[in-house]
Amino acid sequence: KKILFVASEAYPLVKTGGLGDVVYSLPHALKARGADIRLVLPGYRALLRQLDAVRILGWLDVRGADGMVSARVLETRHPEYAFPLWIVDCPALFDRPGNPYVDADGRDWPDNAERYAVFARVAALLAQDALELGWQPAVVHAHDWQTGLVAAFLADQPGRPRTVFTIHNLAYGGYFPHGDFVRLQLPGHWWSPEGVEFHGGLSMLKAGIVYADAVTTVSPTYAEEICTPPFGYGLDGLLLSRRYKLHGILNGIDTRLWDPARDPHLPAHYSAGRILPGKRRNKQALLEQLGAHVDDAMLQAPLLGLVGRLVEQKGIDWVLAAIPVLLAESDARFVLLGSGQAAYEQKLARLARQHPDRVFVAIGYDEPLAHRIEAGADLFLMPSRFEPCGLNQMYSLRYGTPPVVYRTGGLADTVVDADEAALAEGKATGFVFDLPEADAFLAAIRRALSLYREPARWRQLQQTGMRQSFDWSVSADHYLALYSQ
Ligand code: ADP
Ligand code: GLC
Repeated sequence: KKILFVASEAYPLVKTGGLGDVVYSLPHALKARGADIRLVLPGYRALLRQLDAVRILGWLDVRGADGMVSARVLETRHPEYAFPLWIVDCPALFDRPGNPYVDADGRDWPDNAERYAVFARVAALLAQDALELGWQPAVVHAHDWQTGLVAAFLADQPGRPRTVFTIHNLAYGGYFPHGDFVRLQLPGHWWSPEGVEFHGGLSMLKAGIVYADAVTTVSPTYAEEICTPPFGYGLDGLLLSRRYKLHGILNGIDTRLWDPARDPHLPAHYSAGRILPGKRRNKQALLEQLGAHVDDAMLQAPLLGLVGRLVEQKGIDWVLAAIPVLLAESDARFVLLGSGQAAYEQKLARLARQHPDRVFVAIGYDEPLAHRIEAGADLFLMPSRFEPCGLNQMYSLRYGTPPVVYRTGGLADTVVDADEAALAEGKATGFVFDLPEADAFLAAIRRALSLYREPARWRQLQQTGMRQSFDWSVSADHYLALYSQ
């Protein structure tokens, strides 16, 4: 079965979050089950620079914001990829430094509407084999708002492939003013509340939801949540009316890249059968890397880790509220890695300056360090207000680092709270709190710190987490079944 993946980021070429991981690992799981895959990506500068040999597949002229835009379509093989990548090379739109979506000051690129409309037009043409390559997909699978228009462009084409649109995060709607809709000369009949119109503007995310044959999101609980006002961002009514084609399919993780028994980023390896010595060496190396003077007391003390985008979604304000309290009442240490909103970055950096022997903060994006924190920390903090799926908590479970999470979305679907009953049954894997507030988060951390003082029970918690299977085997089959429908 031929499947065309369309996405705006993919590990390891360009990644800002979990989307990049999934766009890498899901198609590989599908390929391992016999699917024939192509993945279309925008030709960002940083991405093009990582490619060795490319082959020009052809040129496609499509409508941009000011007349026609010419895109060169490249094919390349990448050593990390078991299938060809197709790159939409359009320098005016993608040959620029830094982040795919925002400029150096964190502002959306002003021409994002044009960038992703052009990308979607080209992808839709490729889906119809416009370059006559003899490769006609049965299904086009597009991801998040950046590719929401793909299904819309295909919707009224004769003999078109089926379309699947996956919502990785409803909080990012791809909203643009009506003026962009006009300048991009998008089809007039799309402009209705039943089409792409949303509060007087254009929503590319809504386009995907309306026009795709099937809509998926990345956990069963999030699929329920987004049909309700608190999680729906005004699209809950639409989603509820499309419930018949909405599916919640839990993300998997790449257990080859995230494996404490052979992760090349780790100074020491370990597995569920024997955790402690390896984990301790990782903890020591991690603390030393971050400039700590490591002694026995520091190795004994619980180390609380966090990796993530520093945005409201991730509950960073709750973390900022909890740290001073925990510093005062316990011997806990903290290692925090992230980048995002400047105010969060500054507050975390200030905490690190005030407590140089207890709070270690790295601002930036650092893949190896993310792996080392998953391995070297004792407890992983992920108090997201909402979490479509979340990969980090699954990585931390696999690395024997029980997560503290709010009961929402994929966090609720993947972490079993260590209440007395679950502990007794040997089912507990982490700490789950039920109220969206700092005190509830703090109470969950306190429960965790007290269990940490009971080595035998703690080890059982770690082992249960490490033995969960979060690989793609189940979910990849769900996607294949959906494609066949
Ligand atoms: P989201 O996609 O909402 O950011 P996920 O938990 O699904 O959350 O995925 C986050 C991914 O991005 C993980 O692979 C995580 O390790 C990675 N990540 C996030 N921030 C950083 C960072 N500052 N440095 C390295 N990796 C990061
Ligand atoms: C989004 C979500 C995250 C999810 C990831 C991959 O970034 O915020 O919860 O794990 O996409 O689907």
